Amino acid sequence: MSKFNQRTPGPCVVQSKSLSKPEMIESVDESTIERAVEVLRSGQLVAFPTETVYGLGADAGNPQALARLYAAKGRPANHPVIVHIAEPAMLERWAVNVPDSAYTLAQAFWPGPLTLVLPRCTHVLDQVTGGQETVALRIPSHPVALALLRSFDGGLAAPSANSFGKLSPTKAEDVERDLGSAVAMILDGGACQVGIESTIVDITGDEARVLRPGMISQPSIERVLGKKLAANDSNTHNITVRVPGSHVSHYAPSTPLQVIPAEGLTTAIGRFKQTAVLAFADPGNNHPSGLWHKASRDPAVYARELYAVLRSFDRLQPEWIVVEQPPDGPEWQGVRDRLLRAASAS
Ligand code: TXA
Ligand code: MG
Repeated sequence: MSKFNQRTPGPCVVQSKSLSKPEMIESVDESTIERAVEVLRSGQLVAFPTETVYGLGADAGNPQALARLYAAKGRPANHPVIVHIAEPAMLERWAVNVPDSAYTLAQAFWPGPLTLVLPRCTHVLDQVTGGQETVALRIPSHPVALALLRSFDGGLAAPSANSFGKLSPTKAEDVERDLGSAVAMILDGGACQVGIESTIVDITGDEARVLRPGMISQPSIERVLGKKLAANDSNTHNITVRVPGSHVSHYAPSTPLQVIPAEGLTTAIGRFKQTAVLAFADPGNNHPSGLWHKASRDPAVYARELYAVLRSFDRLQPEWIVVEQPPDGPEWQGVRDRLLRAASAS
């Protein structure tokens, strides 16, 4: 196998953090995937690219590896993680009573940015499920992730490769900056093409429901299933409302962030000297360089750029970040959800 077919330009780099300086290998090939699999089998952590965000991979059947994963992220132990698999046929290694709808959704959207929540097999560790009776499963589409999963031939627990409560990484260097030496290897597969985390659908009950919106929209899932999904309050709330509860503090930049309707933008920008702006308009006159990003009106492009833009703002340490409220509509729901969470943490 030569270089994996990349959708993004630039070489694939493997960074090994077991040395003081990362080892750089020009392209991810069969032998580097084999090494990554050995590292995973030894209970260490390997960060790898998916089409959504970078994942921090650990052997989902190894309690020590999972303990290391939670420690690296600083994540509370009762938070469940997604198990990444290579083939729909592997669903039944992790889940029981798999309904036909799981295979229908798998056929339509896998490999891709969709996670299915199903009743778990009894052997699935509590560290994976957070002690719940369900397990979340996904087949990612990034060629490096797929090659790793096929070669590993098991389940990889892979939360986003950031420390708890921070923005998910969409580039290998984000992982390195955030998690550093806690990770044995970082497989660099370029910038993530989707850019926000997968859509999570719970299909354990009589009615399926979206638990986390993403770039696979609720109407597109409903079209495939031929029925409506159950309403989910958290998907319909007003983006400017601050929702109490610890879960909303995920996906946050370090700088306080506020989402503002277009008509309030100019006033909001003027409130502080150093305001970072993510808006659909061109930069205002004399706005400090690097602190204005003209947002795309295409939700797919907006999502792809979102975390990288917020990270670049954070690095410049403005007083706050103002984001112009994105449009309504299901194709913007994933983006609206992440902005709501980022604003709630401020
Ligand atoms: O796109 C993604 O899903 C990325 C990439 C790396 O695959 N992963 C990701 O993982 O976002 P993480 O751990 O950052 O978020 C996993 C989400 C959490 O909100 C968690 O509560 C939910 O999945 N989850 C995991 N298992 C669950 C379960 N059994 N029932 C309900 N929610 C679950
Ligand atoms: Mg995460």
